[in-house]
Amino acid sequence: MTTIPVDIAGRPYEVRIGSGLLADVANACGALLRKPLVPIVTDAHVHAAWGAVVEASLAAAGKQVLWRILPPGEATKSWEHLAATVDWLLAHEVERGDHILALGGGVIGDLTGFAAAIVKRGCHFIQLPTTLLAQVDSSVGGKTAINTPAGKNLVGAFHQPALVLADLDALATLPARELAAGYAEVVKYGLIDDAAFFAWCETNGAAVLAGDAEARAYAVATSVAAKARIVAQDEFETTGARALLNLGHTFGHALEAETGFSARLLHGEGVALGMVLAARFSARRGLMPAAEAERIAAHIASVGLPADVRTLGLSVSGERLAAHMLHDKKVDAGRLAFLLMRGIGQTFLTKDVTLAEVSAFLADELGG
Ligand code: NAD
Ligand code: GLY
Repeated sequence: MTTIPVDIAGRPYEVRIGSGLLADVANACGALLRKPLVPIVTDAHVHAAWGAVVEASLAAAGKQVLWRILPPGEATKSWEHLAATVDWLLAHEVERGDHILALGGGVIGDLTGFAAAIVKRGCHFIQLPTTLLAQVDSSVGGKTAINTPAGKNLVGAFHQPALVLADLDALATLPARELAAGYAEVVKYGLIDDAAFFAWCETNGAAVLAGDAEARAYAVATSVAAKARIVAQDEFETTGARALLNLGHTFGHALEAETGFSARLLHGEGVALGMVLAARFSARRGLMPAAEAERIAAHIASVGLPADVRTLGLSVSGERLAAHMLHDKKVDAGRLAFLLMRGIGQTFLTKDVTLAEVSAFLADELGG
């Protein structure tokens, strides 16, 4: 097992990465579970795959699980499910000193974390991430949120978990498409500031996706270490360091919005294509060699992720696609904030990009 500290001032916590953590969840949580009843929020897919394993560990420790099993999917990150989950926690008299368990992917982690942030003005919670995306990104760093009709993740709180247990065994039941989508976030850490890790991904990405235990452990631990370092520097995304984690997200969100935040394009797939677009846009601006942008595209495509916007079959203009970017959370006093690259591992934030420039670029990428 690898343990990575997240050194948030005043609220440090550990991310433990390894095999068998869900089967041993009672011991792993130890004294954090101070009562005989343990509230766990999950979704129906994860409950079917891992509910019995988690329950057996807790039962052996004399604990009884209070399950809240939500529908799988992005639509669960809603006011409706948040309110019902908060009411459920209050009905079970959860106290501030208790720990609520979030067993699932980013949807469950984000919703449960937000519920924990607001119940009694803040209870503890433990992340048990079961998707690759949640293990390498969403379970670490304390961003919690729901979606509203105005957009994704527009209502939420920064609320750090007390502990994260990333069980690599959970990835065995994850659908291959979800696994690949999560892998996009792994590649992201290489592109941000670690060219050697990107090169490692080029060599080992296929093994990560095929289930090689050593490669998976290395990919998750390296990603979590990168995220922990960035979050410890800039917990509330005020200095610009944490904003780097949004590489590919501005283009990606525009594509997700255009495809209705549906199964047509998963979040990680949008990030994958978004990173390729950010690289090509950087090359077009003369910031990085075009060959380097195409090297990124080649790796993304080699693992079956989208690397060409034309494959999405959108009938949309570059202008309309770019207009989605005006709703980006990074827009500051009306100015777009973009993450561009000077090379692999050299991502930076800039505000000197105009909507007209992005529209023209996207029009070309869409085929004129
Ligand atoms: P998800 O939670 O919807 O899970 C994807 C699918 O996999 C679901 O159908 C789920 O039921 C299923 N699943 C999960 N684990 C499984 C397992 N082990 N076996 C079988 N099926 C399993 O999606 P996700 O990709 O994990 O998370 C996406 C969400 O994360 C988005 O809402 C995004 O906004 C959010 N996110 C948050 C942050 C953050 O910092 N808080 C970062 C990135 C993404
Ligand atoms: N996933 C982006 C962040 O945590 O800041």
